[in-house]
Amino acid sequence: MTCKKDHVPFNGTPEQEKALKEVIAQLKDTKGALMPIMQHAQDIYGYLPIEVQTMISDETGIPLEKIYGVSTFYSQFALQPKGKYQISVCLGTACYVKGSGAILSKLEELLGITNGECTPDGRFSLDSCRCVGACGLAPVMMVNDEVYGRLVPDDIPGILAKYK
Ligand code: FES
Repeated sequence: MTCKKDHVPFNGTPEQEKALKEVIAQLKDTKGALMPIMQHAQDIYGYLPIEVQTMISDETGIPLEKIYGVSTFYSQFALQPKGKYQISVCLGTACYVKGSGAILSKLEELLGITNGECTPDGRFSLDSCRCVGACGLAPVMMVNDEVYGRLVPDDIPGILAKYK
């Protein structure tokens, strides 16, 4: 896994590590334990950074490559933390034809991150999503539960400024 130097640093607590070790101790001799262990780990930490994957590997003896492969294969696992403000840009058909790709690009440019990442200060995370059921407002993005529609790229700086 490549990690940009400005990614959000991992700051797990001893309590989280203890909780993870307890889960692993309970499950590790069960067949097919890896997925539930990873799901519990994500519940404990909120995401599955390489540091947590390494702990799972050390405790279970399962190779890190396998854990990493599973974490990238299933979309339920997040390798990056989520920001205080979670931005989702709809790339469903209606939004896409109305230019949501340009909205996503503008967000990437202004936030300095790419789709799926979180800003180093933990404030914003950026993801794309499928139709959110507001096609009449296409193109649409959401910031947490707030919906913004009929967007053009020039709207984005003003919207981000509200969350500074
Ligand atoms: S396609 Fe974007 S809200 Fe439906």
